Amino acid sequence: AAGLKGRDFLGLVDYKPEEIRYLIELAVDLKRKQKNGEIYQPLKGKTLGMIFEKSSTRTRISFEVGMYQLGGHALFLSKNDIQMGRGETIRDTAMVMSRYLDGMIIRTFGHRNVVELARSATVPVINALSDLSHPCQALADYQTVFEKKGKLEGLKVAYIGDGNNMLHSLMIGASKLGMHFASASPEGYDPDAEQVRLARQFASETGAKVDILRDAREAVENADVIYTDVWASMGFEEEQKERERAFKNYQVNEALVSHAHSDYLFMHCLPAHRGEEVSEGVIDGRNSVIFDEAENRLHAQKAIMAAIM
Ligand code: CP
Ligand code: NVA
Repeated sequence: AAGLKGRDFLGLVDYKPEEIRYLIELAVDLKRKQKNGEIYQPLKGKTLGMIFEKSSTRTRISFEVGMYQLGGHALFLSKNDIQMGRGETIRDTAMVMSRYLDGMIIRTFGHRNVVELARSATVPVINALSDLSHPCQALADYQTVFEKKGKLEGLKVAYIGDGNNMLHSLMIGASKLGMHFASASPEGYDPDAEQVRLARQFASETGAKVDILRDAREAVENADVIYTDVWASMGFEEEQKERERAFKNYQVNEALVSHAHSDYLFMHCLPAHRGEEVSEGVIDGRNSVIFDEAENRLHAQKAIMAAIM
């Protein structure tokens, strides 16, 4: 897709369906190149800054390795180690960093920080997870579904659990890609109403369907993908106990998955709490593709960087 160069990647919401499909196809191609030992370095001489305000295993490693494989260099910048942690404004940070870097990623709490960094920076900014969304993960996940199922359009994705950043990005992605998205969350943990409104608007243009439900069994009925995430995301750890009570009927286990298609894919962004949001049998069972998803973070983010930087 022409015209991606110089763009930010803050959410799938800003990308057209054909642009998302292009990034997935590019990710598949870069994965093939890497497996064949082909050297492909379009970002030679370029540097990526990576601001992290929260922990990370997959995101940090896959961006750093991805940048290296594309011929560039990545800098890990923990928020506490840069002056932003002592109150230097996001705007000044963005202006200064833009003078050194060719791109930035940020993992932060408030999504407005991502937006503000992008607005002030003169180089492309990538959302590496905010409380609102996690678009890099959703892109890697739909790449994974595409590789396993050979298509995306018409498939049903069931998301069980917290109405969080993962739900939002998967729902927006599904609505753009013509998939049927059904979620089930307990009362008080529904997805953001504005995100649901947007997803329904996209769905009306692509033929996708968005069902926001209470009943987990209804959501997984005939699903091709069952997705879950932790009950207490980063920043919500102190609510762990009350969330365990609220989510007790929302575990993805053998009884629940029996209502999906027998060749359903079990997906989870990781890190997971085995025995809480998912039973050990399901997450370690033969339908689980959790490590393919984790691997595809590398390929999907290489596609994003190669396209926009
Ligand atoms: N799934 C994901 O973003 O993992 P990390 O928090 O380890 O980066
Ligand atoms: N919803 C989780 C995703 C982690 C990758 C969180 O925000 O902690």
